[in-house]
Amino acid sequence: MPSIQIYIGQNEDIPEKFHEQFFALRQLCDEEWNGFLPPSLDYYRNFWIIPREKGSAKMKAIAVNEKNLVVGFGYIIWNTMYENLDKSWFRLYVTPKERRKGVGSRILKEMIRALPNEIKKVGADAPKHSPGEHFLQKFKEKHSYEEIIIIVDLEEAVLKDVEQEAKKQRELALSKGYRIVRVDDGDYKFHFDEEEFVKIVEQVWNDMPRENLTEEDMNITVERHQAIIERNKKAGQEYISFVAVHDDTEKPVGYSTFTINKYQPSIAWQDDTGIVPEHRGNGLGLAVKYQSLLTLLKETKARYWRTSSAQSNKYMHRINEILGHKIWQSEPVYEFERRIVEDLLS
Ligand SMILES: CC(C)(COP(=O)(O)OP(=O)(O)OC[C@H]1O[C@@H](n2cnc3c(N)ncnc32)[C@H](O)[C@@H]1OP(=O)(O)O)[C@@H](O)C(=O)NCCC(=O)NCCS
Repeated sequence: MPSIQIYIGQNEDIPEKFHEQFFALRQLCDEEWNGFLPPSLDYYRNFWIIPREKGSAKMKAIAVNEKNLVVGFGYIIWNTMYENLDKSWFRLYVTPKERRKGVGSRILKEMIRALPNEIKKVGADAPKHSPGEHFLQKFKEKHSYEEIIIIVDLEEAVLKDVEQEAKKQRELALSKGYRIVRVDDGDYKFHFDEEEFVKIVEQVWNDMPRENLTEEDMNITVERHQAIIERNKKAGQEYISFVAVHDDTEKPVGYSTFTINKYQPSIAWQDDTGIVPEHRGNGLGLAVKYQSLLTLLKETKARYWRTSSAQSNKYMHRINEILGHKIWQSEPVYEFERRIVEDLLS
């Protein structure tokens, strides 16, 4: 084990002289993890100063060697309000040259040691078959959940065909009694009763397959939903949503949102897509996503559209297949008992 010093805590506990190295490592981690161009360094500089939303806590750590080089980092997040109060999620990164020397284990050990006592579970994900997954398998053989990452190369889409299909899908939805409304910047309250809209967001989030994760349902209030969106906007995220509205009741019944970060304009990140169960089977999921595809082609500089869904979510995979998405990678999620990880690291 090389001689390593760990700095751990909140922003003020990480000496300023290491910040730029830390941002560069965060960028490297994203590039290695996702396999495409990460956001510019300004994204990480800006992200550093954005406060977390109410009810969410985070601890950060960096590992510095004897030459004052930052060779690894970690962070761990958990809820202090709402639900899942016994759970935490971590990420670790160690520069490739310094791996297999115990640095990752050391960062994790110190972060877990500093967690509040109420936290009984720790979880993390990693790209399948990567060093990260092998590291996690040290604590448990089998993952609890698997997220499939899917990508579409927007240069392969033919604008004329997409225009036609988006129009056809919109008309089909209309014929079944639904109209599709575009919402920019997450400004849902301009178009809908916000309580109503957030109720469907809550339903969509809680309805996503969790496979073997022990997650509790989320309790999404208007205030919490706004706080999440505001924070993402501060991080550079621009939102465009298409919402399906039921004509008879005038209520939103589903939506699809994508975001583009101003620090990473070539990648569109698909956010949620969901239709509430009573209104499924009407082609609305495909209809809202087609409007997104058309908008991406006509109004953005994005080259890739990155989306993901649970390995078990067959309907979403079918929609994504129609839209030309190809499987990019898979990211298993591991959930551990805290005491088992503590024992194995001690
Ligand atoms: C995950 C990561 C942080 C591990 O850092 P590290 O400093 O190499 O980890 P350690 O040296 O403490 O490894 C501890 C043990 O994990 C297992 N392990 C780690 N990497 C492994 C690999 N590539 N293959 C097989 N086992 C591995 C081994 O059991 C290892 O002990 P050993 O070297 O004595 O056999 C590093 O691989 C990384 O940065 N990966 C990219 C980011 C990532 O995927 N993070 C996922 C976790 S959130």
